[in-house]
Amino acid sequence: MRTIIEPFRIKSVEPLRKTTREERERLLERAGFNLFLIHAADILIDLLTDSGTSAMSTAQWAAMMLGDESYAGSESFYRFQAAVRGLTGFRHVIPTHQGRAAERILFTVMCRPGDVVPSNTHFDTTRANIEFRGARAVDLPVDEAADTQSQHPFKGDLNVAALEELIRTEGRDRIPLVMLTVTDNSGGGQPVSMANLEAVRELTLRHGIPFYLDACRFAENAYLIHTREHGYRNYFTPRDIAQKMFRLADGCTFSAKKDAFANIGGFLCTNDDRLAEQEKNLLILTEGFPTYGGLAGRDLEAIAVGLEEVLDPDYLEYRIASTAYLGRHIADQGVPIVEPPGGHAIYIDAGRMLAHIPRHQFPAQALAVELYRHAGIRSVEIGTAMFGDNARHELLRLAIPRRVYTQSHIDYCVEAILEVNEYKARIRGLEMVYEPQFLRHFSARYRPL
Ligand code: F0G
Repeated sequence: MRTIIEPFRIKSVEPLRKTTREERERLLERAGFNLFLIHAADILIDLLTDSGTSAMSTAQWAAMMLGDESYAGSESFYRFQAAVRGLTGFRHVIPTHQGRAAERILFTVMCRPGDVVPSNTHFDTTRANIEFRGARAVDLPVDEAADTQSQHPFKGDLNVAALEELIRTEGRDRIPLVMLTVTDNSGGGQPVSMANLEAVRELTLRHGIPFYLDACRFAENAYLIHTREHGYRNYFTPRDIAQKMFRLADGCTFSAKKDAFANIGGFLCTNDDRLAEQEKNLLILTEGFPTYGGLAGRDLEAIAVGLEEVLDPDYLEYRIASTAYLGRHIADQGVPIVEPPGGHAIYIDAGRMLAHIPRHQFPAQALAVELYRHAGIRSVEIGTAMFGDNARHELLRLAIPRRVYTQSHIDYCVEAILEVNEYKARIRGLEMVYEPQFLRHFSARYRPL
């Protein structure tokens, strides 16, 4: 059979609420044209994020009932630790309430003011946590990443020559770690090749610089290596590939809200005993005792099961195919997307689609607003509103929650996007009228021009 189906059936459903165009117009006005500020009940299809929005399996819900809520030494922690160690091989596994808590602890312990932390592309919370520490976050993507239309299979790769140059100019001592984000979320959800991971490992080892993964979407990255990188299709399962990825690194941060199908949670890993001790001290101060780290025992159980399920080849085949389905159906009708489709989201190149709107009028945010106004779909801007002058592109991300929407939901989105594309010349830009100091896109307010 050629049809790739959702490899699950639905046992429990949540109703979706339809709104009228007039209601949505009012809601947009009230939210200052920022979709983060709209109530979820007023959204029909929510593609704001794939983070914490997964549908959990019956096995995860069952495991949650086994949650051991002991303050110290919970059984759930040891099951969680075994699952993380079995996958990553890291010695120290530190639970946190989500990914950015792991980032804050890592950068607080490893960075000093004036330091430089290179990555393929830092995610917004990663960048903000580095900058909050007084250090500098530097993105070093490969040249192919600059062209959204390039079909290069691994546009998440880090530019190794540029990293070598940075180490030479900054000096090894100013670079406390190198980070690779798999997959490269801010760079269009593009995967990192094993060859690139190996090259970064080799270079960092040579200079004695620790190498970390921001591993949020490790399983999707592993599957894209499986299908796109020479030599990985026949002999390696997604699990083999994921294990190999982790074993190249010295540690990782992880948000379990992505590739662990959990609604909350994360962890920080390292092989360095001295660092782990400092990290655990900080964890106790702000997150909790090291055997729960700000999570309930039942959350640790859900993560442990999710980490197993996400590497199921049938799931990953469906996941990657359904994302590509959305991408191909709009791109083949003339909507420019970041090519080729990655794992968790489709990114519309709004800078290209709405070429009549200049960057400082936030073309991708204008498109997000229009897609909500037209069809009740929520998406997210990844461009100048999010990254200011650091933005490489003006992207609109349509992130697909895991195991949540069916093909007809996606068909509805395709239809809506193609309709908006028909009248795109009429879409106007926005002016930002309120801007908070950090991570401004979450609470900024706009005015239509
Ligand atoms: N790193 C990456 C690559 C991410 O995509 C995220 C979150 C984080 C770190 C932080 O994890 O949310 O658990 O604190 N990304 C979400 C998104 C919010 O919508 O892409 P967190």
